[in-house]
Amino acid sequence: MKTTQNTVLITGGSAGIGFEIAKLFDQKGNHVIITGRDENRLKKAAAQLQNVTAIVSDVTNEADVNRLVNQLYADFPKLNILINNAGKAFYYQQAAQANAFEKAGDEMLTNYLSVIRLTEKLVDLLNRQEEAAIVNVTSIVALAPSHRMATYGASKAALHSYTQSLRITLERSSTTKVFELMPPLVDTDFSQEIGGATNGIAPSVVAADLLHALENNEYEIHVGLTAQVYELARKSPADALAAMNA
Ligand SMILES: NC(=O)c1ccc[n+]([C@@H]2O[C@H](COP(=O)([O-])OP(=O)(O)OC[C@H]3O[C@@H](n4cnc5c(N)ncnc54)[C@H](OP(=O)(O)O)[C@@H]3O)[C@@H](O)[C@H]2O)c1
Repeated sequence: MKTTQNTVLITGGSAGIGFEIAKLFDQKGNHVIITGRDENRLKKAAAQLQNVTAIVSDVTNEADVNRLVNQLYADFPKLNILINNAGKAFYYQQAAQANAFEKAGDEMLTNYLSVIRLTEKLVDLLNRQEEAAIVNVTSIVALAPSHRMATYGASKAALHSYTQSLRITLERSSTTKVFELMPPLVDTDFSQEIGGATNGIAPSVVAADLLHALENNEYEIHVGLTAQVYELARKSPADALAAMNA
């Protein structure tokens, strides 16, 4: 997959991993479309990029998604890379009053159902292109869960499963390639509560690994520690589970 002269949509491209991916694609001569809910944050991010369009859009809001999709079909008919990056997590102890049902609902809507909705609406446009890709951002916890992020892990495991099936479907019916980016702990706003600042890798490392994997058609991208947990899980799922919950 080429990594220059593409038109790339990144949901949640105003901060963290999404913004670092936007920066790299921008530097390599692509047109980048970034979305997010907070207009100010989005504008500040866009001001740091050259070839960019910023669109306020919440992946969980149907009207926002429809507006975004209409704008893309009308103004960006060459869109050929979709990066489903926007995500949400709750870090909490399972307990009687944890409101796990509400939290799980939020996480499933943002991390799983919204990806399916947006992908379904854009896949025809992607399939029209000579070369196209969908990148779903899951996580190390899709391989083995971390018990303090039980419902988040489940939403990413669901996305992992969907991504594998989508890859097979599109491989057989189109030229659109389906990638899965699986970061370990990354130092972003998202991970501050779980030690991202001290133990997380830089989001720029995740972005660089993604670009390298796209160039080499490596479909499942095990960034940093994810590669070790992947190997461990292959040999002993129980050891991987223990390592993730040490
Ligand atoms: N950080 C980690 O340790 C880690 C590890 C593995 C996987 N991941 C995954 O990587 C992805 C990015 O995480 P991150 O760490 O970069 O998070 P982040 O630093 O918090 O950035 C999240 C980005 O997504 C946007 N966003 C959040 N909810 C949105 C929504 N409903 N609609 C549209 N945009 C939304 C945010 O902007 P607004 O708030 O303005 O909307 C922001 O641009 C997520 O899918 C996450 O699950 C993260």
